[in-house]
Amino acid sequence: MVGVSILVRPATPADTRRVVEIYVDSWNAGFTGLMPPIEADAGRIQRWATDLASDRTSWWVAEADGTIAGLVGVGPSRDPLDPQLGELDTIAVDPAHWRTGLGTTLMHTALDALATYRQAILWTLANYPQAQRFYESTGWYADGTTRADGHQVMFRHDLRA
Ligand SMILES: CC(C)(COP(=O)(O)OP(=O)(O)OC[C@H]1O[C@@H](n2cnc3c(N)ncnc32)[C@H](O)[C@@H]1OP(=O)(O)O)[C@@H](O)C(=O)NCCC(=O)NCCS
Repeated sequence: MVGVSILVRPATPADTRRVVEIYVDSWNAGFTGLMPPIEADAGRIQRWATDLASDRTSWWVAEADGTIAGLVGVGPSRDPLDPQLGELDTIAVDPAHWRTGLGTTLMHTALDALATYRQAILWTLANYPQAQRFYESTGWYADGTTRADGHQVMFRHDLRA
């Protein structure tokens, strides 16, 4: 968006409500027809408050003109469990800001943080071109690995190529 000032900063538990709002809104707008809709219920808010306070994953939020409009988290890979392999945990942008470059800005922060690993992975939905095109535009590639009966596909990023 022309003239919008973007600031990426580490997330804190104080950001929980807005982070959950964006996570839920982007899920429901992006995954229509692929996944059931979700809600910002008390359990989800509690889980996010715990995640944002945890040391295992590093979280950032992007503020657009002072309002949080996106989030990203990275850490060591969980599936496969491998401390030598990085994983992009979650990336989500408020639908009102889609296609403005905010996701790419957050991805650059994530890739800088992942640069301590030789490679990183992420899991996304099969048959979901929106995210797959986005990941390809930032250097990720599908490596052919799947899980959940082929409903999820792994993408990989070579960080020290
Ligand atoms: C995926 C997501 C984070 C992208 O955020 P964004 O801010 O819209 O991304 P950007 O504006 O930086 O887009 C960069 C490029 O990605 C690709 N892209 C992004 N959205 C796309 C779409 N809907 N269709 C096709 N390509 C798309 C394009 O190449 C785009 O460049 P362009 O706009 O110049 O053509 C956002 O769509 C989102 O939050 N989706 C819902 C949650 C989600 O899918 N998370 C990841 C799933 S695991």
